Amino acid sequence: MYLPWLRSYNLLILDEIDSTNSEAVRLAKTGIAGNFVILASSQTMGRGRHGKHWYSEPGNLYVSLLLDKNIIVGKQPQLSFVTALAVYETIEYLAKKSKVKLDIKLKWPNDVLINSGKVAGILLESINLGQKNYLIIGLGINIKTNPQNIDQLSTNLTTEGGIAGENLIGVLNIFMHHFEQHFLDWQHQGFIKVRLNWLKRAYKLKELITIDDGSTRISGIFQDIDVTGAMMVRDNYGLVHTLSVGEVFFNR
Ligand code: BTN
Repeated sequence: MYLPWLRSYNLLILDEIDSTNSEAVRLAKTGIAGNFVILASSQTMGRGRHGKHWYSEPGNLYVSLLLDKNIIVGKQPQLSFVTALAVYETIEYLAKKSKVKLDIKLKWPNDVLINSGKVAGILLESINLGQKNYLIIGLGINIKTNPQNIDQLSTNLTTEGGIAGENLIGVLNIFMHHFEQHFLDWQHQGFIKVRLNWLKRAYKLKELITIDDGSTRISGIFQDIDVTGAMMVRDNYGLVHTLSVGEVFFNR
């Protein structure tokens, strides 16, 4: 299989690991040069956002990108939107190949849903070593299975009929192709185009949602995301709240 992105990334393929993000952190702390793609067949301590555990059985995609690109810290969160767009297009491509129509949506800040069930999650981490600044983008895509009995509805690509015999390297290759395109666009044109593309695919935009940022819970209409990627919610009194972190709940 031709993997053109190997020109700019070193690929590490691992069997079982605690977490591909933790492996990327360890690698970054050595001060290593170059970008890495770390792929594992399963994780014993897969990590999700807000310190949650990430279900990591064999058969799904567990990958972390270690970017040695000195990305300005304030701009790093924008790359979760870049990544989400690439995941959206990866699933869209796989669905087309499988001849199925899937309702794919992007849930703020960085979940990917199919028919309202979470199919993929993204975890960004950064490591600062004085002069050197690494960004780690962890991505999990449920290909074969998904966690049961969790508080959020989840799904996988096999159940949705959208995988068409593609193996994990094949899925990674499709993702990297789209990621590279959006990353280049972002580098040259900034967040404007990424933001608009993301908004077109956003889940529950202009609808009633509830967001909890850890200290306050706000219900209102999901209006927009701002230039930093923060969520803008208009409450009943017409007041617009801008939140850069939070867990979003959707009123059914
Ligand atoms: C989330 O939605 O909470 C983010 C989940 C991110 C999971 C991926 S799987 C590969 C990488 N390694 C980890 O430990 N986490 C990320």
